[in-house]
Amino acid sequence: MNVLLLGSGGREHALAWKIAASPLLTKLYASPGNPGIGRFAELVKLDIADHSTVAAFCQEKKIDLVVVGPEGPLVAGIADDLRAWGIRVFGPSKAAARLEGSKGFTKDLCAKFNIPTAAYGRFADLAAAKAYVEKVGAPIVIKADGLAAGKGVTIAMTLEEALAALDACFDGAFGSAGAEVVVEEYLTGEEASFFCLCDGATALPFGTAQDHKRVGDGDTGPNTGGMGAYSPAPVMTPEMTARTMREIIEPTMRGMANLGAPFAGILFAGLMITDQGPKLIEYNTRFGDPECQVLMMRLKDDLLVLLNAAVDGQLAHMSARWSDEAALTVVMAARGYPGTPEKGSVIRGLDEAASDGAEIFHAGTAINGGALVANGGRVLNVTATGTTVGEAQKKAYAAIDRIDWPQGFFRHDIGWRAVEREQTGK
Ligand code: AMP
Ligand code: GLY
Repeated sequence: MNVLLLGSGGREHALAWKIAASPLLTKLYASPGNPGIGRFAELVKLDIADHSTVAAFCQEKKIDLVVVGPEGPLVAGIADDLRAWGIRVFGPSKAAARLEGSKGFTKDLCAKFNIPTAAYGRFADLAAAKAYVEKVGAPIVIKADGLAAGKGVTIAMTLEEALAALDACFDGAFGSAGAEVVVEEYLTGEEASFFCLCDGATALPFGTAQDHKRVGDGDTGPNTGGMGAYSPAPVMTPEMTARTMREIIEPTMRGMANLGAPFAGILFAGLMITDQGPKLIEYNTRFGDPECQVLMMRLKDDLLVLLNAAVDGQLAHMSARWSDEAALTVVMAARGYPGTPEKGSVIRGLDEAASDGAEIFHAGTAINGGALVANGGRVLNVTATGTTVGEAQKKAYAAIDRIDWPQGFFRHDIGWRAVEREQTGK
């Protein structure tokens, strides 16, 4: 098969690495890709926002499957447009990608189909939103409705913070994404990421992970896209997984089919495991980044076979097998992230760092004058496996020690919760 992978981050490098291992693959193309992906794929410059350009490329190169990494093109309807040209695409339709593209849409779906989630209100009007916040009180959570690159959520511990967040949203801090807001109940518990591979009718559980969203050690500082992750998530016991499937995922699949927007692709549920059980925080309609990196390290089956089954509506007959080992990834970021990262510093030592079995996925790198340089906020994902999360953690940090990149920084405590559990036996 000829495959075109869209995207340029660590998630796409991990997908390229796994797709390249498939005996079904003839040739992999990636757009725009990155230097790490370039080891497995021919990198092509396409204007991904121009769907007809992508379609023409697919026809010319006889692409059998397009795999879409990030949410932006999905929410913009790339899957529908390519399918209209007869091209097979792994990724949800525009209507199904509303699960990520509109928080209000997802909250209304939860209300309609009785899916456990935080109590909420949906507002397009500042005064009405403020009145609701004043009635409910703090702590409370304010979310811009649309895509805001992970920055549209404010956890307000005081009423003042909540009101300021509403002002910012309606003042255009998140552009059109904030023209509408969701205000919701503050949930407490342990968070987990739960993935399902979906074909419109069937949802196949596809791994669990926990990520670390805050930039600093001890979960301090601003939110990021994720500074590290590990898989599996210990809170997702077989019982919790079964409950999540029954109470959250299956009603969502039925609900979406009911609305005429069956979901096919990766459904990524951000969960809060509360005293009352699992509650949905949000859906994403693609793999997590960096969660995908740890999932791919543990997936024993051929990813291309599974993606094909999802595209062809054949998942009811499939299963996915996972390594018993844990996987952990540490994000190395460029100074300045999550604000404006410094670009252009030279990175050395990756081959030595990977010599002990670590996989180093590129997230934001470029080649400049023959040297590998930082070219984004999150730059590298240093990933390892082990019989415990603790062992995977040791291997990942040992690999980082061998990387020569003084301008990079990383968290020193990725996996702390699971490692603590392993040490105390709780
Ligand atoms: P989201 O972009 O919706 O994933 O939100 C980002 C982060 O904010 C989540 O990973 C949670 O840590 C936190 N969060 C979102 N909604 C809530 C909520 N209702 N209660 C508590 N924390 C939340
Ligand atoms: N790591 C969180 C996300 O991909 O949304």
